[in-house]
Amino acid sequence: MSRFWSSVVHTLSPYVPGEQPKLGGIIKLNTNENPYGPSPRVLAAIASATDRLRLYPDPRASSLCETIAARYDVAPEQVFVGNGSDEVLAHTFQALLKHDAPLLFPDITYSFYPVYCGLYGIRYEEVPLDAAMRVQIADFRRPCSAILLPNPNAPTGIGLPREAVEALVAEHPDQLLVIDEAYVDFGAESSLSLVGRHDNLLIVQTLSKSRALAGLRVGFAIGQRPLIEALERVKGSFNSYPLDCLAIAGAVAAIRDEAWFQETRDRIIANREALVRALSELGFEVLPSVANFVFARHRRRRGAHLAAQLRERGVLVRHFQKPRIEDFLRITVGTEDQCSRLITLARSLI
Ligand SMILES: Cc1ncc(COP(=O)(O)O)c(C=O)c1O
Repeated sequence: MSRFWSSVVHTLSPYVPGEQPKLGGIIKLNTNENPYGPSPRVLAAIASATDRLRLYPDPRASSLCETIAARYDVAPEQVFVGNGSDEVLAHTFQALLKHDAPLLFPDITYSFYPVYCGLYGIRYEEVPLDAAMRVQIADFRRPCSAILLPNPNAPTGIGLPREAVEALVAEHPDQLLVIDEAYVDFGAESSLSLVGRHDNLLIVQTLSKSRALAGLRVGFAIGQRPLIEALERVKGSFNSYPLDCLAIAGAVAAIRDEAWFQETRDRIIANREALVRALSELGFEVLPSVANFVFARHRRRRGAHLAAQLRERGVLVRHFQKPRIEDFLRITVGTEDQCSRLITLARSLI
């Protein structure tokens, strides 16, 4: 506290990221990072971009926008890039989600959303997931200025079919629908193909998960041109160079290495299915995940206690002290070896 604080600072409750332990030897399954690492081509591209460090990077990151546009079959003008999808989301909140009527998002969802609302003074309402922790689009039929949904949802991992997204976007022609597809590549249906038909749809994705580049900080949004222009206006009033030249070079190489993307993504999906089976055999209820994490609770054990016991033994998972989900653990899908070590440990604790 200080008398120099702007008034908004007193009201902020910042997002709390998952722990990044300093010690080695820990099995880190708490922040949904990709255990296989980025394509070797990314490392080579970053190394060869170092001779440009003297110069400011391209403020629009045109080469990256063009690469993303070609990969997802849209025009480069429909792509906006930022310093992680968190920054893309932040600009979305400020540029597109601040109106008189409330913004709607699920009660159980990415916990950064209410933080951005606090920062930008945005009214919001939380729409409860149903008893099975699913999004019911009928529950979003209420007065609002916009709707924000992660697909698959986090931390549940449950996906929403593209048909449901299309129904929602069609039902709300005068409201913006933002779909946060941070985890979409692990088995959910992307709604990118709907963007051309709907001027009220914005899709946000990241290279942090399926391209294993959480440390490089690259995310993007795809939507029709007026939405992208709003994001560019905010970005250009905040930081002209959100992506440095190494991030641009690395991200371009990552998007181009389709083989690495497919292979590592398929391995994570296979590991997830094995993990779900093993957890179920140990008496966990596991929600049906199409993400690179699973959300599971044990029928007899308290979530906080299990998370603490795992931590003491060198395995980090994420636990949220929040009504409805306090007994769940969110477990990132690791390598084959990490998953089997987790299962061996969980078996000894239960
Ligand atoms: C649902 C969701 N959206 C967005 C993000 C932000 O990802 P990043 O800023 O690394 O792109 C995360 C991170 O975990 C997430 O879970």
